[in-house]
Amino acid sequence: MSSQLDLDHPLFQRISHWINLINFLFLGITGWFIHSPYQGMPMSLVRNLHFIFMYLLIINGIVRFYYSFFGKHKDYDTFFFNSQDLKTTWPQIKYYLFLGKHPKTGKYNPLQKMAYIALPIMAVVQAVTGFILYKPVQLASLADSFGGLAAVRGFHYLLMWLFIAVIAVHLYLVFTAAYEQFLFMFFGKIRKEKSV
Ligand code: HEM
Repeated sequence: MSSQLDLDHPLFQRISHWINLINFLFLGITGWFIHSPYQGMPMSLVRNLHFIFMYLLIINGIVRFYYSFFGKHKDYDTFFFNSQDLKTTWPQIKYYLFLGKHPKTGKYNPLQKMAYIALPIMAVVQAVTGFILYKPVQLASLADSFGGLAAVRGFHYLLMWLFIAVIAVHLYLVFTAAYEQFLFMFFGKIRKEKSV
C-alpha cells in the first residue's frame, strides 16, 4: 500500500480556471452588446475587447489542453469516462433530483465529466464560428458549410446561451453541493490519497 500527496487543484489549474472565468465574462458581455447594442455605445471598443478576449480564450485553452496531458500535474485521466462512470451516471442524476444518495465517484462525477468535456468542445465550435464572423471573406466556404453567414451568427449567439446555461448549473452546484471545492479553487488544498 502506498500513500501520495495530491493537490486538489494545483496552482496551474487554478490560474487557468480563473483566467477562463474572466475570458468568458468579457466575451459574454461584449458579445451580448455586439448582438444588442444601444445608442451611443462605443462599439469599436466593445468589438476590440471581444477580439482581445477571444485570443486569450484560445491561448488559455491550448495551454490548458497541453498541460492536462504533459504538465507536472497532468490530469487528463480525471476527465475520461470509465466503466465505473457508466454505473454511477443514473444514481448521480437521481442524487441531483433529490431521489437518492450520492454515489461513490472519483474526483469528478460522471455528469461533471460530461460538462467539463462539453465546455472545451463548445469553445472550439465558438472559436470556429467566431473566426468565420471575423474573416467572412476569407472563410466564406466554411460559412457555406454552416448554411451561410446568418446561420453562423445565429449559431454563435445560441452557443452563448448554452455557455450561460452550463455555467449557471456549474455555479448552482458549486454553491449548493460543493462549496468546499469553491474554496479549494482559490487555495488549492492538499489531499492525502491512498492507493492499494
Ligand atoms: C474564440 C472564441 C470567439 C471568437 C473567435 C469570437 C469572435 C466573434 C466575432 C468576430 C464576432 C462578430 C463581431 C462583430 O461583428 O462586430 C462575435 C460576435 C459575438 N460573440 Fe463571439 N467570439 C468568440 C467567443 C465568444 C464567446 C465565448 C461568447 C459568449 C459566451 C461570444 C458571444 C458573441 C455574441 C453574442 C456575438 C454577437 C453575435 C450576433 O451578432 O448576434 N463569443 N464573436
